[in-house]
Amino acid sequence: MNLNKLYQNLEKNYKTLPLATKAIDIIPGEGPADAKILFIGEAPGFQETVERRPFVGRSGKFFRKTLIEEAEIQDSEVYISNIVKVRPPDNRDPSPEEIVAFKPVLDQEIEIIKPKLIITLGRFSMAKFLDDVKISQVHGRLHRITWPIGTKKSLFILPMYHPAAGLRSGKMRASFIDDFKKIPKIIEWIENQKETESFKTTVDEYLL
Ligand code: URA
Repeated sequence: MNLNKLYQNLEKNYKTLPLATKAIDIIPGEGPADAKILFIGEAPGFQETVERRPFVGRSGKFFRKTLIEEAEIQDSEVYISNIVKVRPPDNRDPSPEEIVAFKPVLDQEIEIIKPKLIITLGRFSMAKFLDDVKISQVHGRLHRITWPIGTKKSLFILPMYHPAAGLRSGKMRASFIDDFKKIPKIIEWIENQKETESFKTTVDEYLL
């Protein structure tokens, strides 16, 4: 399976998906299949449906600008996707059923890309990996989790605020930017971990 095939299949089967009334309602993830970093947002908004690209509206532009200017990482180097691939009406929060319906696609994106680091944007994508945590307490902190669940493999998760939250106040904006500044150091730290290190089964937290 590759990313093109994954989305071709999804478009072919759009009738089985919630929210989608036609194949082009699906907004595919964007970026190279060998990206080190996978960003996961919430769901597309209006502008995303116009351009059929994730994170191209107001909060998307802020996210991409912060990535380039503060983390000094080009947006073309990372893979950008969403927990739900179709815009919910009036940009409402995605429902638990919608999140479940799109789960296999996101799981396959993770499997294909094998990112060194997953950065979740907002509480919906954070909740996929981290249970019972508050975003205000864990944002900007690196977590190591067992993934896929039930295996001995692990994944690094860095929860971040959603960029729309970063646009809400000066304080949130500063916090969002501060977290992005940490990304290069965190990637360097991950790359220096030994492949053979035996990973713990519980969530580990690194206060970098
Ligand atoms: N655009 C996206 O693609 N995802 C979001 O979560 C917000 C805006």
